[in-house]
Amino acid sequence: MNYLYINNKKYKFEKGNSLLNIIQLNKLGMESPCGGKGTCGKCKIKVVDGSVDDLTDEELKFLNKEELKNNVRLGCLVYPKGDITAEFIKSEDKNHKILTEGYMPEFNKSPMLSKKAFKLNKPTLENNISLEEILEKQNININNDYDILKSIPSIFEKDNCTVVYLDEKVIGIECEDTTENLYSIALDIGTTTVVASLIDINKQCEIDCESDINPQKEYGLDVLSRINFAKTNENGLEILNKSIIDCINSLIIKLCEKNNINKENIYELAVAANTTMMHILLKINPNSIGKAPYSPVFISGKSIKAMDLGINISSFGRAYLLPGVSSYIGADIVSGICVCDLHKTKKNILFIDIGTNGEIVVSKNSELSSCSCAAGPALEGMNISCGMRAGEGAIENIKIGEFIETKVIGNTKPKGLCGSGIIDAISEMARLKLIGSTGRINKKSMIEKDNNLKHLSENIIDENKKRRFVLDTQNPQIAITQSDIRQVQLAKGAILSGFYALLNSMNIDIKDLDEVIIAGQFGKHLSVQSLVGVGIIPKELKEKIRYIGNSSKTGAIMTLLSKDIRKEMECIAKDISYCELSTEEGYERLFTDCLKF
Ligand code: FES
Repeated sequence: MNYLYINNKKYKFEKGNSLLNIIQLNKLGMESPCGGKGTCGKCKIKVVDGSVDDLTDEELKFLNKEELKNNVRLGCLVYPKGDITAEFIKSEDKNHKILTEGYMPEFNKSPMLSKKAFKLNKPTLENNISLEEILEKQNININNDYDILKSIPSIFEKDNCTVVYLDEKVIGIECEDTTENLYSIALDIGTTTVVASLIDINKQCEIDCESDINPQKEYGLDVLSRINFAKTNENGLEILNKSIIDCINSLIIKLCEKNNINKENIYELAVAANTTMMHILLKINPNSIGKAPYSPVFISGKSIKAMDLGINISSFGRAYLLPGVSSYIGADIVSGICVCDLHKTKKNILFIDIGTNGEIVVSKNSELSSCSCAAGPALEGMNISCGMRAGEGAIENIKIGEFIETKVIGNTKPKGLCGSGIIDAISEMARLKLIGSTGRINKKSMIEKDNNLKHLSENIIDENKKRRFVLDTQNPQIAITQSDIRQVQLAKGAILSGFYALLNSMNIDIKDLDEVIIAGQFGKHLSVQSLVGVGIIPKELKEKIRYIGNSSKTGAIMTLLSKDIRKEMECIAKDISYCELSTEEGYERLFTDCLKF
């Protein structure tokens, strides 16, 4: 047995594991956006002491001179040969911005969850019927629920009790009158972030909200890397499942403490998430989602005892998982459709959730069709040379004029660019024609000849046959490389071609689109100018864009507050058709056309 020494602690490991694997198995926190394939360069770690493999060519692609001098390596490509001492080198999640707000439509409130207090009749010598029968005579039918049956003796020690109903069915009985305390939680589990809203069912409103980074990010940034982690690691699925359950429980504790609420008074959890997150939440192998023919194990809505999932709310509380459509159109998107009433509209509306996966839905006179495109992590700042999450030190806005103006999260020295910063930069570069329509950065000599651009010629650097555009000549590490532009180009090509393919399949001309709705964490941070500038959204639609924020969470709240909405969601999920882009005629050509700036 060998030991890893890190953070002043030691951890056992067996030889044959990569340093990344050892760190992740010990839950020490390290991102692996590419799932440990050695292609993202984000698992950098300093090897302080110990014998490891020699540097590989793959690693050299991601490490600069300074890092090589300091013995920085890629954790996923380093296999310790014995005891090893290592040091983490950066954390990007500080002050990570999480979108918790969203547009909330008007709707009729009629929660499924309710409570009623009873004065208990007691047995007498003359009428010593069973306690269960007494309850039945008071119209409290426990429907042979074993857990409720076991609670009856303690309930009858008091004079009053409170019955908790879900859709008019008894789910539990509590001693005394507890009708004042009736809470639920709406949960949005995104691949990157988790948001939990505390709902007061009596007052029929949201009273607080907490959020966190999805801790599964350490095992891969996108759903495919997580599926791969579950598949290729012993206990991989259990590790992913435990990390999300722990995160949910800690958000619940925070909400309870802040609002002085007992977790026993939370009786339901409504979960909106993509299909992979739902599988992992239920500890169901998501492998089939990741390979053709991409059939998920389940997509229908589910009501499951929260305790069976390890979620700490009332001992008889339920977790309701909203329904999804397919492996890549999940309950989070169904939620968004319902929030925007796309299933009822008479207009032509395009709904898009931009992230690692771009999910697109078109409603034509309330007929719904959807597609999903693999945009990859570039738009979230990953697989980008200076990319980082939207945390402290990330450049989030860029304007190129006489000078290059940047806005940095936390107002600190810039450490890199987050997704919106990268899109801003490339959009500005395209606007100024610093890049051509194919995405190539123009030569320094060409820029020098242009009177409007020559002041930027110093920002173009050619080194080792590679060209990059630096944002600050005093700090030349922060730059947009040719390969970064290629990554963004692929992402934009995937989304825009999905967009057009779906409109074609619905016979809608772009000029007939009434509205483009942008949902989700990432889209919210992209300005109309950047979206149009980089070409993710065609410029004809510039005036028709509306942002609705976190519609996944809003939909989950609505299912808790309205039984009609819950039924509507089930219908919406069944009514959406799904368009598989790879089988669409002419899609390849469309994709190539959409790569152009
Ligand atoms: Fe190591 Fe991506 S390069 S996790």
